Amino acid sequence: MDFQDYKSFWNDKASTPTGAMVAVDGSHDERTLRLTGAFSAAQARAALDFAPGDRVFELGCGVGRIGRELAGEVAHWHGLDIAENMLEVARGRLAGVGGCAFSPLRRSRLDALGDASMDKGYCVAVFIHMDKEDFVLYLRDVARVLRPGGLFYFDHWNLAHPVGWRRFSLEVDQAARLPPGQRKDVARNQFCVPQEVEAYVRGAGLELLAVVTDTPWVQVVARKPDGDAAASAREAERLRAAAPRISYGAQWTAYFDAIVADEARAQPPHSLLALLAREPADDPVALMFRAWIHGAWRSRPDWGPVPAGLDAGA
Ligand SMILES: C[S@@+](CC[C@H](N)C(=O)[O-])C[C@H]1O[C@@H](n2cnc3c(N)ncnc32)[C@H](O)[C@@H]1O
Repeated sequence: MDFQDYKSFWNDKASTPTGAMVAVDGSHDERTLRLTGAFSAAQARAALDFAPGDRVFELGCGVGRIGRELAGEVAHWHGLDIAENMLEVARGRLAGVGGCAFSPLRRSRLDALGDASMDKGYCVAVFIHMDKEDFVLYLRDVARVLRPGGLFYFDHWNLAHPVGWRRFSLEVDQAARLPPGQRKDVARNQFCVPQEVEAYVRGAGLELLAVVTDTPWVQVVARKPDGDAAASAREAERLRAAAPRISYGAQWTAYFDAIVADEARAQPPHSLLALLAREPADDPVALMFRAWIHGAWRSRPDWGPVPAGLDAGA
C-alpha cells in the first residue's frame, strides 16, 4: 500500500467491517472486540473518573471499540475519526446508545468540537500512527476544546520500556527489508520516550497530572489549566492511587512480548499459546488473548489448524 495521507490509508483498512475491526486492534470478531473494548474502557474509567453528566470525546474512535463500552455512562459521547469508513461501523455498533455523535476529522484538528465544550476526552492507539507534528497539533486542539479543569487521557508507544524497544525493533527490521528509495507508510508505528511525550503535553499548554510508564505504553492524563492548584493536586493524588488500574499491567505486557517474539521469528503465536496454557480458564486477561489468538489463527490458513482447546468461546 502506498498512501499519501492518513484518511485514505485508514478508509482503505476499514473498507469492510471486519477489516475495520482488525485494523483497530487485531480483533477478528465482535466477541473479541467487546473483550478488548472492556479492557481499554476500564483503563479510561480509571484515568478519567467519568461522572454521569460528563461530555466526553474520543479522538480516533475507530469502530467504537471503547466508546461502545463507555458511551452509556455519560451525558454525551462524541466519536471523531479521520476515516469515514471507521465511523460508519462505529455508528452501527453504538446504534442503541443515546447521546452519541460522530464526526469525521480533517487532518489534526477537532473542528466539530467548540471551544471549552468538553469535560473529558481520550485517545487510544492513535497518536502512535502519525507524524509527531500532527500529534502536537491535536494536543493543541485538545487544549482548545476542553473546559478549564477538563481531563484528557491518551497513550503512546514507550521506547524506554524493554518490550516497547523490542516492538520498535520489529519496525526497524521491516525498514531494513524495504527496497532502496521506498519509505514506510504514512501511518506506520511511531515511538516516543516518556520525556518526549511530556514535552509535547506541556508544549501544547496542558498540565501533566499522571504519566504511567511500567509497560510498552506511555499513558498520560493531562489537565486543561484553570489556576486551581488545589483541584489539580487532588486529581494528581487520585491518579496516583488509580495508576495500577490505568496500566496495561505485567500480565498483558508478558503476553504482548510473546507476540512480538513470535512475530520476530515469523512464526504463529506459539510462545503466547504456551503462556496462556498455564492460566486458569476464567482468567480475564488470558480469556481476552485466547479470543484474540483464535480469530487471528482462523484468518491465517498458512498457520495450520487452530490449536485444540482454542475454540471461539474458550
Ligand atoms: C489503531 S486504531 C485505534 C482505534 C480506537 N482508538 C481503538 O482503540 O479501538 C487507530 C484509529 O485512529 C484513526 N486515525 C489514524 N490516523 C488519524 C489521524 N491522523 N487523525 C485522526 N484519527 C486517526 C484511524 O482511522 C483508526 O480508527
